Order: sequence, then C-alpha cells, then structure tokens
Amino acid sequence: MITELAKNVYWVGVVDWAIRHFHGHELSTHRGSTYNSYLILDSKKVLVDTVWEPFQDEWLAALREVVDPAAIAIVVANHAEPDHSGGLPAVLRLCPNATVIVSKRGAESIPGHYHQKWNFKVVGTGDRVNIGSSDLVFIEAPMLHWPDSMFTYLTGRNILMPNDAFGQHLASEFRFNDQVDLEELHEEALKYFVNILTPFSTQVTRKIEEVLALNLPVDMIAPSHGVIWRKDPLQIVRKYQEWAAQKPEKRAVILYDTMWQATRRMAEAVGDGLLAENVPLKILHAVATDRNDALVEVFRSKAVVVGSPTFNNGLLPSIMPILEDLRGLKFKNKIGAAFGSYGWSGECIKVIEQHLEACKIPLAAPGVLTKWQPTADDLEKCKALGRAVAKAVLA
Ligand code: FEO
Repeated sequence: MITELAKNVYWVGVVDWAIRHFHGHELSTHRGSTYNSYLILDSKKVLVDTVWEPFQDEWLAALREVVDPAAIAIVVANHAEPDHSGGLPAVLRLCPNATVIVSKRGAESIPGHYHQKWNFKVVGTGDRVNIGSSDLVFIEAPMLHWPDSMFTYLTGRNILMPNDAFGQHLASEFRFNDQVDLEELHEEALKYFVNILTPFSTQVTRKIEEVLALNLPVDMIAPSHGVIWRKDPLQIVRKYQEWAAQKPEKRAVILYDTMWQATRRMAEAVGDGLLAENVPLKILHAVATDRNDALVEVFRSKAVVVGSPTFNNGLLPSIMPILEDLRGLKFKNKIGAAFGSYGWSGECIKVIEQHLEACKIPLAAPGVLTKWQPTADDLEKCKALGRAVAKAVLA
C-alpha cells in the first residue's frame, strides 16, 4: 500500500476499513478512516506522524520496505492524539536517537501521553529544519484542532502536511482526491469540519489567511486522515473558508423525539408550514438519526426546530446529546424554535428554549405546546410556527 507522492516522499499510512466510531464513540465514521504517515528520504530520513497503536505492526512492516527505521533521523509529531502519535514508542525504540519535533504545546501533550525522555526539539511558526536538499517549515496551528496542532511543509516538493486539518474519515484503496468518488469525499470532508472544527471557525479563517500570506507554493495537501488533495489542492482550503464563514442555507431541520406520536405529528405539521413557504427541510427523529450526520444537517440549515414531549419535568433523554453538541459546536447565524406535547406538567418548551438560548440560537417564534394528542387546532398552530420560522429563514 506504500505510495510515492513525489520523488522520495512516501505515504506509509494504514487504511482502517472497519472503524465505525472515533474518539471512543463520539464521532461516527461510516466510511472508515486512514491514519496517514509520511516518510521523506533526503540526506536525513524524516517521518511525519505515525499511526494508531493497534496498527503499528503493519505500519512498521510497510515502513521497512522503504527504509531501515534505525536510519530515521527526525520524527515530526504534528499532534498528540493517539491516532497519530500511537506509533511513536514503537518507532523510537528502533531509532532512539532521532530528534522528535513538536510544537510548543506538543512539548506538553506528547510527553503527557507517553512519559518518555525522547530527544525533543520544540519549533514555532516559521522555523525551518534543513534535511538535505529541502527544508521542513513548521506552522503552529492551535485549535485546528487541538492547542498542540502543527502543520509541516516540505520545500522543493511543495507538500503541506497539516495533520487533522483538511482531513476526512474515508477509507479507500486510493490515495488521492482525483481517484475517489467526489460526492463521498465532499460529504466526509464536510462532516469532519462540522463535527471537529466548527467551534474553531474563527481560528480556521485566521490560520488560512496566515498560511496563504506565506505564499508557499502548494502542490499537495496531505492530511492525516483520508485522501491527499493532489488535484487543485487549494479547493479544500477554499471550502474551509466557506464553511468557517458559517453562512447557512435557507433551509430548516426539525429535530424531535416522541413517545406516543403526538410530538411526531406536531413535527410534521411544523414541516407543512415550512413547505407552504417553500423552505426545504429535513425532519429527523433523534433516535433514528446518526447524531453526527444530524449535526451536518443543522450546520447547513438556517433554522433548527426542536421538539420533545415533557418527560420527568424535562425532555426525552434521547434529544439531549444533540442539544449538548449544539452548545459545544457553537454554530453561528442560526434561528430556532420549540414544540412539544405533554400530559401533566408541560415544561418541554421552556427547557428547549433554555437550551437554544445556551447555544446562542435566537428564537424565530414562540414555541407551541400541546396537551395530550394534538387537535386540529393544535396542528394548525404548529403549521403557523413552521410558517413563522420559514419567514425568518427567508428574511
Ligand atoms: Fe486525527 Fe486529532 O486526531
């Protein structure tokens, strides 16, 4: 599976076809992933990032096809999360005198994970390390997506290795963007941005401006997950600029859970109101929808309308994880609304609206609360709510 990206620059990563959840169970990865590791053979042999520890044996076996690991002089650890740093102990047992290049914050996180006294060299933005016929140039990229994250750029070959930034959880037999299904690639790149990078949109915009101002020629962007951007590599940079601007489409997501179908019927009536104003929408039943995929729909949409019955003076627990994500991901430029049914105490609207407020999502209209199953009048009120949200979307 070794792939030569440019003369004496190799992808030596691993494809994880089977993984379906990342960060424990936080992030769904329907299409698997890859752990990309890069090897540069110049006067000095350089390894940029490693792989997750369960894959280290096959990774080292592949590496040995190209280089004796004992000859590696420099190991760049762009980021400490174990999907990229997990192979450090194994490879550094084979090249114990190698210099381990880390960012300033990486000097905290890498030792924090491995508690080893490796030969660390700390670099900052603009620092260069000559490796023979070319240089490594380093760019700190805090919060893209951890404080320790760093980009490494290889002069001469013009390859940017930005670690997680510009990645996708996409397992493939192919290594380059011009070889894979473009729709799948776009979906996975967007899902990755939405679920991992959205809270840091401001830093993304600033960092892209900073990197572009360096005027470094870029022939490839080689992230640490998924395929390498070879054809029009800056296309993903432009997409990140667009996504980081958070200008949602004029559409809506209705996100609900239901016990005995009352709230489901309300959701569909809200949808009727939106459709009456020609606003496209998705109606997502929280328990039947992958949370990370639902977040992509919310990211794309101007409006998020949340429905739940009242349950134990609050909401159905199934709706809570996505509300927690909405708070943490800090989506911008949204509007929201609430609906729900109850039998006895009826707190659901108040609780949903409090959550939306915590997410800094202003209300487009007052919520609609129904006691027991909705009557025809209640469903008309839901439809009116949909119309009100639609007007705010289109305003
Ligand atoms: Fe792919 Fe932040 O680890």
